[in-house]
Amino acid sequence: MQIINTTAELRKAVGEAKQNKKSIGLVPTMGALHEGHLSLIRRARTENDLVVVSVFVNPIQFNNKEDLAKYPRTVEADCRLLEGAGADIAFVPSVEEMYPEPVSEVYHFGPIEEVMEGPRRPGHFSGVAVVVRRLFDLAQPDRAYFGEKDYQQIAIIRNLLEQIKYPIELVPCPIVRADDGLALSSRNMRLSPEARAIAPTIYATLCQAVEMSETDEVEDVKEFVVSSLESFHEVNPQPNDLKFEPEYFEVVDGVTLQPVDTWDGPHGVVGCIAVWLDGVRLIDMVRFR
Ligand code: PAF
Repeated sequence: MQIINTTAELRKAVGEAKQNKKSIGLVPTMGALHEGHLSLIRRARTENDLVVVSVFVNPIQFNNKEDLAKYPRTVEADCRLLEGAGADIAFVPSVEEMYPEPVSEVYHFGPIEEVMEGPRRPGHFSGVAVVVRRLFDLAQPDRAYFGEKDYQQIAIIRNLLEQIKYPIELVPCPIVRADDGLALSSRNMRLSPEARAIAPTIYATLCQAVEMSETDEVEDVKEFVVSSLESFHEVNPQPNDLKFEPEYFEVVDGVTLQPVDTWDGPHGVVGCIAVWLDGVRLIDMVRFR
């Protein structure tokens, strides 16, 4: 595996691959790699001749300075994992390399960014779009791989591809979970052992919600999810004041991401949640239909 730090070197490697008619798979990441990322890379490996993985903590998608500062950075371990998972190129640029000039581009996505993460993380999706477009320009992939844990991000990238009209196949990949159900996330490593022990409650509650959806209305299921998480620490006393603080739980159309009030929509219905636990913001999602 080649580790590339500059855009010039990446362009050169991609240019050679293109000349040799090789297909290119791109897996954009912010590092702190886990099995979830590795599943994207293994999938890209089976579908492309050249697999490029970017490892770049993108400052312009963080609307919270503390979150950016605390974002785990484990580049050496990441490169070892990438090699094991079959990546051909690890692209690990510095901030100056990715953004030699101040960024002035802004992307708008309409209604799909006006829900869930959008209003709570102003500028986040535009920042994601800027970096993803740069990575598309540099790596010129045939396919790009994204995890479904960030369900809204996938809708944003789909919309970005429609806006910029690049012929890239977007490949959404299923969430990978720990044995106890917790969705794998780089942020999980910031949880204390006590918080990690109760974190699977989020997915367990979502699974209960899916069962409940067979008989109950959307509003009641939403209320159930939020109130069970909010009252968890009252029913199960926790050390250090640990508690779940749900930021949102939305039940939305699987494509338009607009809130729904019935279970049967043309595009399927998904539930997306963001919850604070132990100073860490965790997100997850389930499919209802
Ligand atoms: O999902 C992520 O890790 C990031 O948002 C991405 C797509 C790598 C862009 O920085």
